[in-house]
Amino acid sequence: MAFSTRLLAGKVGIVTGAGSPHGIGRSLVLSLAAAGARAVYATDLTLANISSLQDEVRAAGSSCKIHGEVLDVSSEEQTIGVVKKAIADHRRLDFYFANAGIGGFRPLQDTDAAYYDRVNAVMQRSFFLAIRYAGQGMSNLSAEKTRPGGSIVVTSSMAGVSGGVADISYASAKAAVSHMVKSASVHLSSTHVRVNAMAPGFIRTSIMATSQAAVEGKAPERALSKEEALRQFDATLGRQGGGGGTSPYYYDRIPEPDEVAHLGVFLASDLAAAVNGQNIVADCGKTAAAFGESIMGPVAPMTPL
Ligand SMILES: NC(=O)c1ccc[n+]([C@@H]2O[C@H](COP(=O)([O-])OP(=O)(O)OC[C@H]3O[C@@H](n4cnc5c(N)ncnc54)[C@H](O)[C@@H]3O)[C@@H](O)[C@H]2O)c1
Repeated sequence: MAFSTRLLAGKVGIVTGAGSPHGIGRSLVLSLAAAGARAVYATDLTLANISSLQDEVRAAGSSCKIHGEVLDVSSEEQTIGVVKKAIADHRRLDFYFANAGIGGFRPLQDTDAAYYDRVNAVMQRSFFLAIRYAGQGMSNLSAEKTRPGGSIVVTSSMAGVSGGVADISYASAKAAVSHMVKSASVHLSSTHVRVNAMAPGFIRTSIMATSQAAVEGKAPERALSKEEALRQFDATLGRQGGGGGTSPYYYDRIPEPDEVAHLGVFLASDLAAAVNGQNIVADCGKTAAAFGESIMGPVAPMTPL
């Protein structure tokens, strides 16, 4: 399944947290390129996996220019820097995906103020910085872009909706972000910039492998392989997510990151022109099911009509 290759024709934008071997950021870059974007800045704490991403985009037949840039999303200076660079290079900025994050479950008793502050710097302050400076950058006009406008999409989480699936630092940062898009959509309305959040459920990514170093603002010491990263996911979040491929329930599915990236491409495009200030939950129905069959007992599938 794919979008039209002209959906984002000529558009230029930035994706944060695109540097892992298998994750939502990397899938966003691939999907944005496949939808016809002219250039995407793939940013992260490390560029170790960016050359394979560039190869994958080219191998898919896309001419989208993928720029790798080191960006610590908690830095105001670096955020301004990458926005300015995109505008200087391409004379326009059309989309910004504030996606970088750190995961892991830390019990309250092991949560000190330094950890809480770090999680909030990476997953709340950074989203403010993205909205603040990408929103401004989207008002820059040139011969290439004659009207202000664009789309900012932040990656929240079902943990921002439900309190039960993450630690207190992560869940509260994501809840703040899901709300931030509402306020931001009003402030950026006269600039014609839409601001929305995607709130995934458990997604099979590198997050359990990248987070240990990222909590300290560092990249993993060596480039991670996809297999290594997914082994860590399958042994932790994958198991806790209830999937394992054996459950009969749709809400137990653990999607691949491109399923979230497709929602992102939609939100970046004019197909979503009427969608603004929203938090769109993409969790296969987990938050709707809540405790699901553990309370209701097994629900039999429908029989044919
Ligand atoms: N995987 C899930 O189950 C899940 C569920 C809900 C939400 N999310 C969110 O999705 C987003 C992407 O995560 P993912 O699951 O694709 O994992 P991922 O490991 O593929 O991507 C996260 C990336 O963020 C980067 N990062 C961390 N701190 C950073 C910083 N200070 N500056 C720049 N980059 C930094 C990491 O290096 C990593 O490459 C995160 O915001 C995460 O909270 C993930």
